[in-house]
Amino acid sequence: MGRLVRFGIAMDEDLLGRFDALVERRGVAANRSEAVRDLVRDALVEAEWEQAAEECVGTVTMVFNHGVSDLSDKLDALQHAHHDKIVSSMHVHLDAHNCLEVLVVRGASGDVRTIADTLLGTKGVKHGKLVTTTTGQKL
Ligand code: NI
Repeated sequence: MGRLVRFGIAMDEDLLGRFDALVERRGVAANRSEAVRDLVRDALVEAEWEQAAEECVGTVTMVFNHGVSDLSDKLDALQHAHHDKIVSSMHVHLDAHNCLEVLVVRGASGDVRTIADTLLGTKGVKHGKLVTTTTGQKL
């Protein structure tokens, strides 16, 4: 880690108030500086992920009703089609109808994004999100 540098930020009072409330909800160890550092790190990881030359690892979280027509079969078939990039999956039966699946997808950022978009865009998937990080490895 390099030396700490202090700098000022001008911000709308209302926006700062909401930011402080967010920081407070995060607990005792949280403060403005740490929260801003986290945001900067997130932005840098996100930007790095956009560089297709580096390997990306993403988690795809999705919630769906397994009883809806052939949705489970469709999602299963999509995952088999990308078995070389989906390195792990977890299935939780949330209740009598709803399922939660979390997949770990590894590969070029474009491929990871495409797989996630295809799964999350499948009709019947209620909710979902792709979260990404990078290994920093060149492809
Ligand atoms: Ni299930």
